[in-house]
Amino acid sequence: MGIETEARNFISEIEKLHTIQDIDVAKSKFLGKSGILTQEFKKLSALNSEEKISFGKKLNSIKNQIEEAINNQVKFVKKLELDEKLQAENVDITLPVNNEFGSLHILSYEIKRIKDEYKANGFLILDGPEVETEFFNFDALNIPKYHPARQSQDTFYIEGFPETLLRTQTSCVQIRAMQEKGLPLRMISIGKTYRNDQLDSTHSPMFHQIEGLVVDYNPINIGNLKDALNRIVAFVFEVDSDSVLLRFRPSFFPFTEPGMEVDCCYSKENGNIKINKNGNKWLELGGAGMVHPNVFKACGIDGEAYGFAFGFGLERLVMLKYGINDIRSFYDTDMRILKHYSSISNN
Ligand code: PHE
Repeated sequence: MGIETEARNFISEIEKLHTIQDIDVAKSKFLGKSGILTQEFKKLSALNSEEKISFGKKLNSIKNQIEEAINNQVKFVKKLELDEKLQAENVDITLPVNNEFGSLHILSYEIKRIKDEYKANGFLILDGPEVETEFFNFDALNIPKYHPARQSQDTFYIEGFPETLLRTQTSCVQIRAMQEKGLPLRMISIGKTYRNDQLDSTHSPMFHQIEGLVVDYNPINIGNLKDALNRIVAFVFEVDSDSVLLRFRPSFFPFTEPGMEVDCCYSKENGNIKINKNGNKWLELGGAGMVHPNVFKACGIDGEAYGFAFGFGLERLVMLKYGINDIRSFYDTDMRILKHYSSISNN
């Protein structure tokens, strides 16, 4: 059989191969070291120069044809393999979907809601570290060493790190914010706080606080504080601010003067809390007051400065809002409870 016939046969054989390995084997049979065509090339040296030119041309043209056939077949096989793979991985979009999506935890949902609202109203939304120093958690907040307030908050100290603790209140963010940003400042901070409390239905060693701070070199008075509290209560409970009636009871927070405890009027209807002015009950929201001058001093703020601050326990508010009667249900990973509130947080 002449080389041309062999080449033709080879090309038609190649076109039947469907794997790269088979093509490689066939290729070496023809073009490899002892391949058919290679042998033909070896014959060239025995020919005279004229024959060399014409036979050489012939062999080169055969070689080109074979290489082209091989390359085409490799391309074809690769495309075939890709098509098969795509076919195998094809997603059937007509299958019914599993539409169980995750949702925000009810606390995360409320945190986000409050942050979004206050951000939209021009407040800075700030965070501070949960592992704090005594300076930010106590000293700068005008709570001197050995003051009973330090004990009353049952602080967790960090072993091996003097003066380092888990923050007992988000009020430390007030200090960090004023030191960093100066006045005027309107901020909200929501975050985790820690106290060495026994876990029961109303106490948890970790809970969240909402801290608000509004400070300026221009006068700010207790009426502004009252207005701000009215607004945040209405927003949290999703009621009209006209239905909010607050009560202030004098209280002592070393970083405020005067300081007060804030209660909100409500009634209970069918087991649910209803915020309204004509209620017969008062719910305790948390602490508030006008910023103490010593706090401004600790933040390096000179001159006359004015402002108010408030700090509420978030879990308490959310429990009242949704009629949750055990704080532990926020932290238990009970799917029934999580799912129950997902209808709210998914909206
Ligand atoms: N930080 C106080 C607490 O944890 C609450 C508070 C904040 C009171 C701001 C007054 C002003 O009890």
